[in-house]
Amino acid sequence: MSLLDAAREVRERAYVPYSKFKVGAAIRGASGTVYRGCNVENVAYPEGTCAEAGAISAMVAAGETVLTEVAVIADSPSPVPPCGGCRQKLAEFGAGDVPVLLATTDGAEMHTTIGDLLPGRFDAGHMART
Ligand code: THU
Repeated sequence: MSLLDAAREVRERAYVPYSKFKVGAAIRGASGTVYRGCNVENVAYPEGTCAEAGAISAMVAAGETVLTEVAVIADSPSPVPPCGGCRQKLAEFGAGDVPVLLATTDGAEMHTTIGDLLPGRFDAGHMART
């Protein structure tokens, strides 16, 4: 199964009673294993979590900390870009050249990279003097 199909499949399990906007994300760990996540909302709105965050949690819980590929899908007019927080989360575990596929359920695709999504990223090097 492709990474995008894995994201498409897990999207169906999104818990979105408030926004009704289902998002699915799949990431490939350096081992080749695919991890999936969907958005999980909460009646206390800020407590909701994004699909990308769920996939990253699954990867880390499985013992991996390097990702090599990302796919995100939603039913939107154009491919949904990860939110700012998720860009930083992806950058924590993926190099700048890691490919990111953003897709709609209608079949539109946008190909980008973690580096293009988060130019000028804050990383550990910025804390070199501490
Ligand atoms: N959402 C994601 O899960 N990932 C994104 O990349 C964009 C937004 C979710 C959060 C919330 O549950 C819903 O989409 C509407 O913002």
